[in-house]
Amino acid sequence: MTQRVLTTESGAPVADNQNSATAGAGGPILLQDGHLLEKLARFNRERIPERVVHARGSGAYGYFEVTDDVTAFTRAGFLSEVGRRTETFLRFSTVADSLGGADAVRDPRGFALKFYTDEGNYDLVGNNTPVFFIKDPIKFPDFIHSQKRDPFTGRQEPDNVWDFWANSPEATHQVTWLMGDRGIPASYRHMNGYGSHTYQWTNAEGDAYFVKYHFKTNQGVRSLSADQAAELVGKDGSSHQTDLLQAIERGMNPSWTLYVQLMPAAEAADYRFNPFDVTKVWPHADYPLQRVGRLVLDRNPDNVFAEVEQAAFSPNNFVPGIGPSPDKMLQGRLFAYADAQRYRLGINHTQLPVNAPRAATADNYGRDGLHATRYGSRHDKNYEPNSYAGPAQTDTALSAPLPVQGWTGTHEAPAHTKDDDFFQAGELYRLMSDDEKARLIANIAGGLSQVTRDDVIEKNLAHFHAADAEYGKRVEEAVRALRED
Ligand code: HEM
Repeated sequence: MTQRVLTTESGAPVADNQNSATAGAGGPILLQDGHLLEKLARFNRERIPERVVHARGSGAYGYFEVTDDVTAFTRAGFLSEVGRRTETFLRFSTVADSLGGADAVRDPRGFALKFYTDEGNYDLVGNNTPVFFIKDPIKFPDFIHSQKRDPFTGRQEPDNVWDFWANSPEATHQVTWLMGDRGIPASYRHMNGYGSHTYQWTNAEGDAYFVKYHFKTNQGVRSLSADQAAELVGKDGSSHQTDLLQAIERGMNPSWTLYVQLMPAAEAADYRFNPFDVTKVWPHADYPLQRVGRLVLDRNPDNVFAEVEQAAFSPNNFVPGIGPSPDKMLQGRLFAYADAQRYRLGINHTQLPVNAPRAATADNYGRDGLHATRYGSRHDKNYEPNSYAGPAQTDTALSAPLPVQGWTGTHEAPAHTKDDDFFQAGELYRLMSDDEKARLIANIAGGLSQVTRDDVIEKNLAHFHAADAEYGKRVEEAVRALRED
């Protein structure tokens, strides 16, 4: 093997990487030691802002393969043919803690998927939960503040977590989910992924369908109890990263089967639940799961910083045949992600290898900015319209237009006939086995009993009572027992 030569950033060979240049053997360091200055200065700039949420994560490349014909519902090219494969990159994450946090904690998990399609990148930025805590994006910064570290104590505070939920009854469904068995996945491989929101598919005829995505793990769902998780965190804080990395290195490529629920657009207005409320599911009896394809992860990134930390997913990256729904939370997210990335990674983050289109080419009049590497060819014009055969619009919308009505102003989301904040939480509780119910009650009581204010505890108990009388009674008794201890 030939010996590689160590160089400076400008490519010049480095003579000594062990000793800095000094004025004599015992003297002070010389300013002319450019290698030392560059090395220290560069090191000072290694960190970039971490993601404001989902800071801690793991990623892997793979592919998506279509197994079932869905062309009646969407004209998306990458879903157009059984057997068709599209390269993907998936980033899993925890939500609340910072970059150095532990993996095996009770928290939702991110499931952010980039399809490098030949019609552009399609990003589906979901979680391992089919629902979410809130239904209006205006509450998101407050919600996240309540879950992350307190500005005074510097710790995640049960008081803040449960105070927000006490005043946000719409969170009861997701709280029930999070405190249940699936709240601490055994690994990223052993959990499902969900688009959570309702999206829109449009077929070649222009018909609109509303769609929910479900990625079911083929490894089986496995979870950790609170005690198992605490033990694991002590042994390996990066347990999910370790598991994913090693599984793929050993060729045990994890896979998920994608199913969708499809609702013809005309049925949305009269459905018993508001289909655009992300705190609700569509029961499978109403809209059954239909299989679409298989997602396989088969390659670890070569460099965690370059490919996982710099990965940027945006719910607004759609391709022809797929679009947003009127879900208010989703609408907020359509803005938030690329904006966060312009701050976190810079305006040209879409040109980084992990984010740039692979099967398509980005061709537009966006120019310049910090670290621009894409600038077209020598004679390309940087304005439009032009007379020089530059890229031009297609006049074909990616998804079908949807009708709107009503008055501008701040509104609560419309309630459909079966909508309230508690019914589906109660349904989820009643679906659980006796053992699962017992663990759920213990997990909730373990957190809620640490809250210092009685009125905050009472408000939370009222939500569990409203979801199911037995559920409320059992949580109340368990909290009381722990507080009397
Ligand atoms: C209005 C509500 C929400 C807002 C404003 C919001 C905002 C954000 C922001 C700013 C980031 C960091 C992006 C970056 O720096 O690259 C992020 C990350 C993320 N969010 Fe949300 N979020 C919301 C709700 C949700 C929901 C409902 C889900 C799941 C269904 C979700 C899933 C994720 C995931 C998976 C990531 C990490 C993406 C990655 O791996 O890079 N978020 N969110």
